[in-house]
Amino acid sequence: MKNIKEMKFKTLISEIDIATRVKELVKEIAEDSKGRELFVIGILKGSFIFLSDLLRLFNIHNIHPSLDFITVESYGSGKVSSGELKMLRDITTDIENKWVLIVDDILDTGRTLALTKEYFQEKKPAAIKTCVFLDKPERRINEFKANYVGFEIPDKFVVGYGMDYDNLFRELPYVAVLLDEKNI
Ligand code: PRP
Repeated sequence: MKNIKEMKFKTLISEIDIATRVKELVKEIAEDSKGRELFVIGILKGSFIFLSDLLRLFNIHNIHPSLDFITVESYGSGKVSSGELKMLRDITTDIENKWVLIVDDILDTGRTLALTKEYFQEKKPAAIKTCVFLDKPERRINEFKANYVGFEIPDKFVVGYGMDYDNLFRELPYVAVLLDEKNI
């Protein structure tokens, strides 16, 4: 582990840009889900800040989603079909016939979301959509595409707005790139 005090960061996405984009995303989701019973599932831990910002904006659109969280681990090298999902914390509500939105902070290889979506698909929701704050398309190992994406970013190590380095820096209200030999 690096010495935390010596680590340097550069802002990649500002607090203002985040707030603007989150509002736009909620508007899109609200329009698509209008009139349906919306059930939001957050993937811990990374999604918690993004999700709390999203959730508080649904009120403006007169939408009142149900909420639950999951904790998962995904394994596998190469193709997702050979990957495995370990559900460490599952939801406790029946989602049959509900309009389900799975929220995560970052879409990287695509393994976590592809396997999580597959897992919930079996519970027969009316629809299942995915929403990510960040997308790193360069890192993808499958064809997975999220329905709602906050920002596309290059393959850099980022922290803040829920994302961590060794479980630190999640509290930063903006997204920052770690400046080191790989990311400069
Ligand atoms: C991160 C992130 C996503 C996942 C994306 O979780 O929050 O859930 O990795 O990666 P993938 O597309 O390659 O599957 P992490 O395991 O770092 O846990 P955390 O959310 O608790 O920080």
